[in-house]
Amino acid sequence: MSTDIKSLKKEYKLLIEKVNYHNKMYHTFDMPEISDSEYDAVYLKLKKFEEKNPNLILDDSPTKRVGAKLLNGFQKVHHKKPMLSLGNASNYEDFLNFYMRIEKDLGTSEFQLSAEPKFDGLAIGITYLNGRYNSAITRGDGVVGEDVSANVRTIKSIPLLLEGENIPDKLSVKAEIYMSISEFKKLNKELLTNGEKTFANPRNVAAGTIRQLDPNVASNRNLKIFFHGLIEDDTYNDKTHSQSLVRLNSYGLRTCDLNKIILNIDDAKKYYDHLDNLRSSLPYEIDGIVFKVNNYTQQERLGSTSKAPKWAIAYKFKSIEAKTKILSVTFQVGRTGIITPVAELDSINIGGVNVSRASLHNMDEIYRKDIRINDTVFVKRAGDVIPEVDRVCMDDRGKTNKIKTPKLCPSCKKPLTKISSQSIYKCTNESYCRPQIIQSIQHFASRKAMNISGLGESIVESLVESNLINNFVDLYKLSTTNLLSVDRMAEKSSNKLITSITKSKNTSFDKLIYALGIKEVGITTAQNLSKTYMSLDSLMSATCDELCLIDDIGEIVAENIFNYFNNSKNIKLINELINLGISIHYQKVIINSKFVGNSYVVTGSFNSKSRQEIEKIIVENGGKVTGSISKNTTALVLGSNPGSKYEKAKKLNIAIIREEDFLKLL
Ligand code: IVH
Repeated sequence: MSTDIKSLKKEYKLLIEKVNYHNKMYHTFDMPEISDSEYDAVYLKLKKFEEKNPNLILDDSPTKRVGAKLLNGFQKVHHKKPMLSLGNASNYEDFLNFYMRIEKDLGTSEFQLSAEPKFDGLAIGITYLNGRYNSAITRGDGVVGEDVSANVRTIKSIPLLLEGENIPDKLSVKAEIYMSISEFKKLNKELLTNGEKTFANPRNVAAGTIRQLDPNVASNRNLKIFFHGLIEDDTYNDKTHSQSLVRLNSYGLRTCDLNKIILNIDDAKKYYDHLDNLRSSLPYEIDGIVFKVNNYTQQERLGSTSKAPKWAIAYKFKSIEAKTKILSVTFQVGRTGIITPVAELDSINIGGVNVSRASLHNMDEIYRKDIRINDTVFVKRAGDVIPEVDRVCMDDRGKTNKIKTPKLCPSCKKPLTKISSQSIYKCTNESYCRPQIIQSIQHFASRKAMNISGLGESIVESLVESNLINNFVDLYKLSTTNLLSVDRMAEKSSNKLITSITKSKNTSFDKLIYALGIKEVGITTAQNLSKTYMSLDSLMSATCDELCLIDDIGEIVAENIFNYFNNSKNIKLINELINLGISIHYQKVIINSKFVGNSYVVTGSFNSKSRQEIEKIIVENGGKVTGSISKNTTALVLGSNPGSKYEKAKKLNIAIIREEDFLKLL
């Protein structure tokens, strides 16, 4: 090996080690040593190095966490040993029974318990081979799980390479994947402003995210993990579970620092009370304590049933809920016109917080739970999450009124449309329905969108009420004089707002796309679109097929984008924006200009790349991809075993590009 290559490899190794180290200090040990921007700089250096030296790239590089979309779904996998579940204790008596049974079965009071939080997330088994991340399988029904390796790999607190001495050849570990409460709130807020369905709790997000076919989604969701036990280790024979946890941690696997060894029943009770108190201030959700007999020989002696080990129990916390009455139900109109039923409650204190409203999600949920006005219901509050009506207390049911599906929009009184198979209702009168107008202008002005400061909710409301603005374009037609006519607006604040509106005319492409408020287009999708298209015009003329090729975009979102840009009202609004002087800063750099402005159809199978990859290259370089040949097609990119498209192209005299020629074009 030449010394050049040798020193490059050394430089590369050091860069990877540096990124891995700081990644571990931040994500695994919550003890960052450098600032976010310093970390970004090191990471960028590694990325640049890899761009310059593509032949040196290693699969375990921290830049290689996000893989391609899974085209064939998740593979089913039989667990080598069944992943058992846990027995439950729902009160102190249950727990005492468990403790006394252990004492009796072991014939001694000489035993320790390992106590740990019961994380409310998704159970997973992860395997490392020769210290390399190999696979992640969901628990499934305990016997058969699904291979979700590509999604789990995106979680930054999971090392791709184990570190430390004497790493086992094969190591399989049990873990729980979860989303922190703050991340959950952030995500739901974003979904809400994008007019998308929100998640009921962090557990559902974790489970839903790991089941997405596109690893980009998981990569953007910032999930976390706690490792909590061994499944298989072919090198070590630890004596106790707690020893194993310490060893796992020494490899860089994240374990919980609340774990504790318990020596007697008093300790156990104290630990339970301590965590129950701590619960509401933890950054993640837990729903109880898992107590496990610590010594492996004692575990074996106690054995398991077919469902659960006899040496462990989950002592559950009481859920934070309270009983109250539903006084009435109101219907709220969201930015995209979705109607959400909300229960107006007889105000009540749940775990220290006053609650007077709770979400009822949608009509299906109301009918499924048979919730009616005047019912006494249990309202649940999980962490800081929006309270929800959990169930009806049927014993208390007296005279009730059924909740009727609204036929008209509660605001503009236009008939509602039922969308999807679920009972979700929508007001489609978006240009005239006040709450929709107000919320879409607010969304347009929000920080991640056009970032117009000083345009709070009440100002937008007043501007709309006084007919000064009816859509986001009207913002750019406002003058200081207009603003002065609005309540509470003085000269200084009016001038400030006009300056801030004018400043927003200079914007980046991704922010503008996000600001338009296209259904289900959040900031990540907007960023992906801006990285793919070199101009607003090319985005506006994108086909659904083409949009589907972009990371994070499936058929439904592609259709939303396509429909948005093919609606005459929207086209008019965008043209007006441009005429009013919006100046867009584009990010897309075209590497290969040969495709710009041309239209292609790709057919057959290829040796060097998949059909999707070829289509992606064309789109990312300014070309268009369509599904069928027409006289507007520039060329047909032809693989082996083509179908009727080849015949049609020949008939219409369309140019043919074979795989080797396509590669040459690049
Ligand atoms: S040990 C053989 N420890 O709870 C039993 N499980 O109800 C192995 N869970 O699906 C489980 N936190 O994923 C264990 N500290 C913890 C846990 C934990 C959460 C989950 C686990 C399992 C479920 C059982």
